[in-house]
Amino acid sequence: MAPAAIIPEITDYVQPKKDNLNLPGPTRARLEKAGIDLSQGYPYRPARPLYLQDVYAIRNEDRGYVDAGTRADPKKAALFSAAKEVKNLTAHIGTEIVGLQLKDLTDQQRDELALLIAERSVVFFRDQDLSPQKQLELGKYYGEVEIHPQVPHVPGLQGTTVIWPDLQKSETGASFRKPIGTQGWHTDLVHERQPAGITHLHNDTVPSVGGDTLWASGYSAYEKLSPEFRKIIDGRYAVYRSAHAYLDRDDPSAGPKYIERSHPLVRVHPVTGWKSLFVNRAMTKKISDSIGRRARALCGITGSRCTMLHKIIRAWSHATALVRQALGLAAPDE
Ligand SMILES: [Fe+2]
Repeated sequence: MAPAAIIPEITDYVQPKKDNLNLPGPTRARLEKAGIDLSQGYPYRPARPLYLQDVYAIRNEDRGYVDAGTRADPKKAALFSAAKEVKNLTAHIGTEIVGLQLKDLTDQQRDELALLIAERSVVFFRDQDLSPQKQLELGKYYGEVEIHPQVPHVPGLQGTTVIWPDLQKSETGASFRKPIGTQGWHTDLVHERQPAGITHLHNDTVPSVGGDTLWASGYSAYEKLSPEFRKIIDGRYAVYRSAHAYLDRDDPSAGPKYIERSHPLVRVHPVTGWKSLFVNRAMTKKISDSIGRRARALCGITGSRCTMLHKIIRAWSHATALVRQALGLAAPDE
């Protein structure tokens, strides 16, 4: 059956391109073990919506959100006592939990993990036996899972977005001189009305060299700014745009337009109450309360401050990273 759009309300769409890249061995093994139907190819691409208005309408209402960390024991005793080891990787960001399988966590441990993610921004688990179904189930436990209108996902599992650099290269031709958005410091999904809470990345195949991701603490990036600078950005909003563009139904001849949404430059985590820098230079259209030419510089400076705090995380195979209140950067390998 030909692919459809992600929701039945979208009836004006374009059929997606067909992919024919060879599936890497470890990915195939993981998907087959999980019983994923690969007979129609991999990954699955939903039909791409044609019109901007239809994409704006996706998740376009205020939705309740209760962070699982609010239910957690502040000592995280159930999670920590079950782990073989809990290692902080840097002073500001990143903790690794050793000796636990994410798929086996109890609800109490999941809540405590959410609190740990809130505090440490990135939490890693290596050597995971994790199916895409289990990954999706954990995502649903933490909140509503984002389903992208056009990026590929695991067949049959909306919300399990596939990140595959070779596949991306076949679409965008990204290179050192033409980096894609994820190769600069960014927070994810800035075009959403409610951007992502926890993001969960699972590596099923990694290259022998490269494939690394850098993470920066949004909390530290904010704290390290001068008090004067913090005053400039506190309470200020930026207008962000989407990575993909769509035709305006009322003015199709104007050409593709981007989704635009406004968000604060400084966000407060609902559980820790800590302030965090929320920037995405490539997708920032303008700082809404105009501060003239300083606006672009602001994004640049905040971006470069983050690089002082980064921690390079090696691409570990079968490792999982759960991320919140952090900025990410995919290290270029070319
Ligand atoms: Fe990202």
